[in-house]
Amino acid sequence: MSELDIPDRKYIRTPATAPGPTGPQMLPDFLEIRRDPLAYLNKIWRAFGDIAQFPIPTPPSYLVSHPDAVKRILVDRPRDYSKATIQYKALSLVTGNGLLTADDPPWREHRLMLQPAFHPRQLEPLVGQVEQGTARLVAEWESLGAGQCVDIERAMLRAALETVGHALFTEDLSGDAAELTKATLDALEVVVARARVPISPPSWMATPANRTLKRANAILDAAVSRLITARKLESVSTTPDVLDLLIASRDSQGEPLSEREIRDEIVTFIVAGHETVAAALTWCWALLATHPEVQRQLQAEVDSVVTPEHLTLGDLAKLPFTRACVDEALRMYPPAWLITRKALVDDELSGAKIPAGALVIISPWLVHRHPDFWVDPESFAPQRFLDESVTRHAFIPFGNGLRLCIGRDFAYAEAIALVARIASRFTLVYPEGSSIPSANPSVTMRPIGGLHLQIHPRQ
Ligand code: HEM
Repeated sequence: MSELDIPDRKYIRTPATAPGPTGPQMLPDFLEIRRDPLAYLNKIWRAFGDIAQFPIPTPPSYLVSHPDAVKRILVDRPRDYSKATIQYKALSLVTGNGLLTADDPPWREHRLMLQPAFHPRQLEPLVGQVEQGTARLVAEWESLGAGQCVDIERAMLRAALETVGHALFTEDLSGDAAELTKATLDALEVVVARARVPISPPSWMATPANRTLKRANAILDAAVSRLITARKLESVSTTPDVLDLLIASRDSQGEPLSEREIRDEIVTFIVAGHETVAAALTWCWALLATHPEVQRQLQAEVDSVVTPEHLTLGDLAKLPFTRACVDEALRMYPPAWLITRKALVDDELSGAKIPAGALVIISPWLVHRHPDFWVDPESFAPQRFLDESVTRHAFIPFGNGLRLCIGRDFAYAEAIALVARIASRFTLVYPEGSSIPSANPSVTMRPIGGLHLQIHPRQ
């Protein structure tokens, strides 16, 4: 990028090192940024290219949209980019120093401790659990009669919450576990509201939102404490859940995790493993209902594999087209639509100098539409994932590199099992006059107004 491409922005204390909008250009856009951040990011990318700089003095802030530059940040130099960003600081008001928001230390030690809970052998019982939940959902839908409209987003949220709850606490989904989950979601709502306005009152100020957050956090602390005490009195189960693992873990000094550390990891899993999966499933149905021919192709594959008996992990491997549909939904509507990092050292991305302390903003939504890496990116074409033409680092719905999502295989197993079972029993269509909803990027990317589809039992 030549100097001439960079507009004169002398009021920026750090020199401009990449093209981007000027302050006066950006000012009228504030409403749009709040109303439709995706459209705004898209506009900046189209106007200024793969590395664009916002006219923000501190920290200097860059939108990074080229897959090679994203790979450099996430895969090649992950230790030079930390999670100490506004996005993760806001989230840590709920999740504390859990895996998602922590830097190293303590991230690496905790990741190693928790990895066994996501070992492939844990996926078989997970598929069984998803099947139980889906059987209840199928029975409910069958009792409604043909052509009834159902709230798909709500159904997917319930299914995903049940599944992650089971992985964390096994059968204990009543009492404390339910209270803990509700408090987590309440606290998360406050964080989302904070992230939507440019300036929020400090968290110590007694505003209504801060009081809600404080109350929710107090409930979380107490519920986790009771759960730990109760679990320590039980005999060790043969297939340890995440709570068992957290209680049994020892750090490098042989010390057990503190209650605070256990609480932070549990809350992190509820936050990271619930809405994300539900959003992926909801968008998958939204797209399949828009493309009846693709839904029929998926049903044909599913019919050759899915029997009334329980699905197994082995069955999921025989459903490549179903997985491709999930992948294509993750490409077009990545639930984690924003990934941020703080540069710890000076770096250079696609020719642009990035100073230490800079904020880098990566939007998988944009990376998944990069025309050099995706043919006809606005088209729903699951087949592209079977033609082996996908460049790995241009597809980042679960992040990439060291900080790749720990729950990725868990999410795939859950999503494929659920889509396959539902597709074997129902055809989903839009009611007359409605079509695919617009996306609302909040903590995850959700459909505005939800997703309401008619369900037709298959003969
Ligand atoms: C479709 C579903 C999911 C999507 C799209 C998703 C997306 C992501 C992304 C993009 C990251 C990386 C963030 C970054 O680099 O800044 C991440 C990290 C993480 N995810 Fe997921 N996730 C999903 C499901 C899950 C599930 C099911 C769980 C747990 C049960 C989970 C737990 C986590 C945790 C703990 C991290 C932090 C990992 C670390 O840094 O060591 N996620 N996820």
